[in-house]
Amino acid sequence: EKVIVNGELIERKDAVMDIEDRGYQFGDGIYEVIRVYNGKMYTAEEHLKRLYESAEKIGLKIHYQKDEIKSHAARLIDENMLETGIIYMQFSRGIAPRQHAFPLKDVACSYIAYTREMPRPEASLDKGVKTLLVEDIRWLRCDIKSLNLLGNILAKQKAAESDCYEAIQHRGEIVTEGSSSNVFIVKDGTVMTHPATNLILNGITRQVIQKVCAENAVPFVEKEFTVEQLLAADEVFLGSTTSEVMPIIQVDKTVIGEGVPGSMTRKLQELFSQHIQ
Ligand code: PDD
Repeated sequence: EKVIVNGELIERKDAVMDIEDRGYQFGDGIYEVIRVYNGKMYTAEEHLKRLYESAEKIGLKIHYQKDEIKSHAARLIDENMLETGIIYMQFSRGIAPRQHAFPLKDVACSYIAYTREMPRPEASLDKGVKTLLVEDIRWLRCDIKSLNLLGNILAKQKAAESDCYEAIQHRGEIVTEGSSSNVFIVKDGTVMTHPATNLILNGITRQVIQKVCAENAVPFVEKEFTVEQLLAADEVFLGSTTSEVMPIIQVDKTVIGEGVPGSMTRKLQELFSQHIQ
């Protein structure tokens, strides 16, 4: 198994991290998860664009060109003979004596990447999943794909403890997003999701769903919706790199629609499957 450490392709067992890496000490860094289907990266350009945007937002300098990162990833896929899975990549603000403020002199970012086999979640995609509502306690820059994920982790853990697939977060009345996904409702044939503000991560899957809706004359609106609207929706689904278009058939104790994936969700799953071919 090969991994990338600071641009070098090495054996995973030889990969080491300094104890004063800022990613490790502060979560001071950013990451991306890119899907691999049939040995090829899916929407790599979009993910890398967001990676550089996240870096910019926290003043982190990635001293690698987009094409370098892309070719590192392609080499990893090749070397590890990955067919279906993900590439994880992260960039931290580097190694420096611990102090909260940025290192004084220019310290190079730390860059690691690895692959993992991960099948498409076919059984869940077919049956739908249960979810749990949790208050969104995260910070106000959820648009940044930051390594700091404590809020997300605590939310997901609550879901896991209730045998739920995902935690749906809300700030007061307003539904924001899942702990690691975007949330969509369908009402009277219109797909609705939280606008891409500082309160959510603008998912690449979300953007693909938006695009296929536009191409297929499916009404799609970016608009805040409430917990009440969520519970009364005709259909609910989530979108993420690993989960694709995942039907949600239950939120807390409330069964959504008929308790099976709805027709719009099925249609979007089909359009999504065509898109990844
Ligand atoms: N989740 N919102 C949050 C908080 C996320 O962590 C993710 C990604 C998304 C969906 O973004 P995208 O469609 O670009 O994956 C939204 C990880 C990567 C996942 O579960 O796949």
